[in-house]
Amino acid sequence: MKSISILAILLAPTAVFGLLDAKFKAKGRRYYGAIADPNTLSNTQVQTLLKTEFGAITPENSLKWDATEPSRGSFNFGNGDQTVNFATSNGRLVRGHTLVWHSQLPGWVSSITDKATLTTVLQNHVTTLVSRYRGKIYAWDVVNEIFDDSGNFRQSVFYKVLGETFVDIAFKAARAADPAAKLYINDYNLDGPGNKIDQLLALVNRLKSRGIPIDGIGSQAHLILGQVGGVQAQLVRLGATGLEVALTELDIRIPKDVTSAKLSQQQNDYATVTRACLAVSNCVGITVWGVSDRNSWVDSTFPTYDSPLLFDDNFAKKPAYNGVDGALN
Ligand code: G3I
Repeated sequence: MKSISILAILLAPTAVFGLLDAKFKAKGRRYYGAIADPNTLSNTQVQTLLKTEFGAITPENSLKWDATEPSRGSFNFGNGDQTVNFATSNGRLVRGHTLVWHSQLPGWVSSITDKATLTTVLQNHVTTLVSRYRGKIYAWDVVNEIFDDSGNFRQSVFYKVLGETFVDIAFKAARAADPAAKLYINDYNLDGPGNKIDQLLALVNRLKSRGIPIDGIGSQAHLILGQVGGVQAQLVRLGATGLEVALTELDIRIPKDVTSAKLSQQQNDYATVTRACLAVSNCVGITVWGVSDRNSWVDSTFPTYDSPLLFDDNFAKKPAYNGVDGALN
């Protein structure tokens, strides 16, 4: 018996230690994921980390409207196909991101002013994307960031022309095109209390009462160092809807300059966020919004912040990695 346990420990490194996704699954969850696209997949170290550590891939940009339907009815799936094929050929789940978003939206859509045209365009876009990847996508972010920072409906072309029903139209078209895909509403700043999460939850209730096929709520979780204490309480509220919940775009950015003390704080913060998901039984997954600090949206959007991810510029594990790993052990 004793020698069997010693053997088990000796064999453990490949079976148990190291793989965030495997450890997360061992806790009964579906995936620990990251993002990719051809621009990062071209790096073999990124590919290696995606294969060893992560169980799901979200295409970072290649499935967005500007990439997939730059002009009406003319679809382009080159980058999307490449990313989805990388994921599925390596046995990874895919989160489809995103069908309806006010940003990275071509001008020809923003300039539509009549309901009938926008309804047709919306249905065609959703149906075409979801059908193309039918059976390959675990979950779609059907609508993204539809509330502004005050919790009001964002004044996108979709809301201005169609009102709240644009959400119904998008979810119904997605369900019809791939009945097996989980359909999510996704947004940011759901990490603390306030009108935004209140309004999102109110909408989810309205959608459910109207029979709209919604399966999940994605909380993006673009967080700031030392400000992660509210994540669990809000995730509990999202989970109380009975829908799946997921942290869909996690990163924790550090105010410059980065010091070893701040990296330790980031380790604690990543552990706190990981435990927050584990505390909510229907929190099915976590996706980090980048593999290494070398490729993060934070660099251009928040130049006074840095180093938001689990691996550093040279693809070495950061203390943040150990924060996630420790919380999963
Ligand atoms: O595709 C063009 C390319 O043709 C051009 O040469 C190049 C020159 O700058 O720009 C390319 O577009 C960039 C695009 O990413 C694709 O690489 C845009 O400039 C750049 O702004 C865009 O940034 C993306 C951002 O969304 C846009 O809003 C980030 O990579 C992406 O990480 C970020 O992701 C979002 C989620 O989708 C939604 N939640 C927030 C999150 C962070 O902003």
